[in-house]
Amino acid sequence: MTNQPNIDGVGDSGQAWYYSDIVKDHFFNPRNFMKMGEEEEFKADGMGRVGSPACGDEMVLWVKIDPKEDKIKECRWRTFGCGSAIASTSILSVMLTENGGMKLDEALKLRPQDIMERLGGLPSRKVHCSVLGDKALRSALNDYFHKSGQHQRVIVEGSRVIDEELKITDHDIEQAVLDGAVTLEDVQKKLKVGIGNPETIPAIEDLIRFYKEKYFGV
Ligand code: FES
Repeated sequence: MTNQPNIDGVGDSGQAWYYSDIVKDHFFNPRNFMKMGEEEEFKADGMGRVGSPACGDEMVLWVKIDPKEDKIKECRWRTFGCGSAIASTSILSVMLTENGGMKLDEALKLRPQDIMERLGGLPSRKVHCSVLGDKALRSALNDYFHKSGQHQRVIVEGSRVIDEELKITDHDIEQAVLDGAVTLEDVQKKLKVGIGNPETIPAIEDLIRFYKEKYFGV
C-alpha cells in the first residue's frame, strides 16, 4: 500500500481534498468498531462520549484497562461522524492497543496531530474530525480515573473567559482555529473578540499560536 494521495473531491473553497490510502482503508475497514448491543458484554472500565461543536457529530469510545501495567488493553468506539472521524478513531484505537497496549500516561500525551500523522494527513477542513476521537479518549480515561478512585489523575479541560463582555472563552478560539482561522483578523471576523477590548488581544494571539501548533504543527 502506498501513501500516495488521490483526489476524492473538491471542497466548497474550490480546493481539492486529498485522502490518503490509509484514511480510505480505515474508513472502509474500521478497526475495533463497537457494534450496537455489544457494549454490555465488553464491560468497559471507562467510557467517553463527546460531540463536535463544528459539525454536531458524536463519538463514543470505550476502554479496558490493565490496572497492574497501567495500560490500555482494549479499545472500542462508535460514531455518528463523517468518514474522517471514522478513519481517525479507527487508527487511534490501533495506536492505543498495538504492541501490548499503550501506557495511560502516553495515551494522555497523544495529540490530534499524532493521529493525523499516522493517517498520512487529513484535509485541513477535516482536522476537527480527528479531535473528536482524541477528546473521547480523554473523557474515557477520566471516567476510568473516577471509577477507580484515581481522582488526582483526572484532567479537567476547563474554559477560560477571554473576553468578559462577549463571554468568549478559550474553547471558542480553539473552535475558530479548527474551523480554519489562522490570524487574529480571521478569529475576529468569526467572534468579534477583542474588538471592543484591545487589552485582550495578546491573550487571543497566544491562544491562536497555541492551537495552531497543537492541531496543525505550525
Ligand atoms: S465532519 Fe463531523 S466529524 Fe467530521
